Amino acid sequence: MLQDIELTAVQKDFLNKLFLGQRVSFVRGVADYDGFLDTPQPEICFAGRSNVGKSSLINALTGRSGLARASNTPGRTQELNYFTLDGDLFMVDLPGYGFAEAPKAKVDAWNGLIRDYLRGRPQLRRIFILIDSRHGLKKIDQEIFTMLDKVGVTYQIVLTKSDKISDKALSDLVEKTSQEIKKFIAVHPRILVTSSEKKLGLDGVRHEIACFMNDYKQLSDCE
Ligand code: GTP
Ligand code: MG
Repeated sequence: MLQDIELTAVQKDFLNKLFLGQRVSFVRGVADYDGFLDTPQPEICFAGRSNVGKSSLINALTGRSGLARASNTPGRTQELNYFTLDGDLFMVDLPGYGFAEAPKAKVDAWNGLIRDYLRGRPQLRRIFILIDSRHGLKKIDQEIFTMLDKVGVTYQIVLTKSDKISDKALSDLVEKTSQEIKKFIAVHPRILVTSSEKKLGLDGVRHEIACFMNDYKQLSDCE
């Protein structure tokens, strides 16, 4: 299956301890620039249009249904929420970008905050850009890619909600998306495919994240 990744028993054990252990926790919600964490540990984040499944993915990765607040209502996440895996690595859940159903001033403020966050902070090692498998890449996603190409932070695409489309439609989408990203520079070539609902593709994302930790890197082929 598209969602699968092959891991050794030792890697699997490491990932289970890291993501499903008791030491995963919420750190804080941040509503302005001054609140960004200034810690040396690697940080990764989940970005994407509203409702693509960012908060649900954090919950699925950590096996904790209520860690990040997910909801049917687009615009659920309204702050940058920091979570930590054992203090060694931080994960940030962002509000959706391009959300248009709130008052304009609020939308502008969120979008400004997200852009400030994404631009040039050295500890931010990878931006996972989530794309709803039913919708594919939109103009706003490509605008964000162009901005990230300028600042040079690596971003990687995660196709979410793969349970909502057929296997054939999914493999066509992966093919189409790989073509579409060829014109971008800082994009990671491997496209990840997940379903938080059906718990598919989670180890692929966990692996990418754990690769920022030296102990895991020693066990793995990390690119
Ligand atoms: P904002 O915070 O508003 O930007 O949204 P978000 O990207 O955090 O999305 P969220 O995780 O809140 O999920 C939005 C909706 O999609 C919820 O109703 C979830 O239950 C649903 N959803 C998320 N992931 C999946 C998935 O893998 N499969 C299916 N079928 N539904 C999903
Ligand atoms: Mg959210």
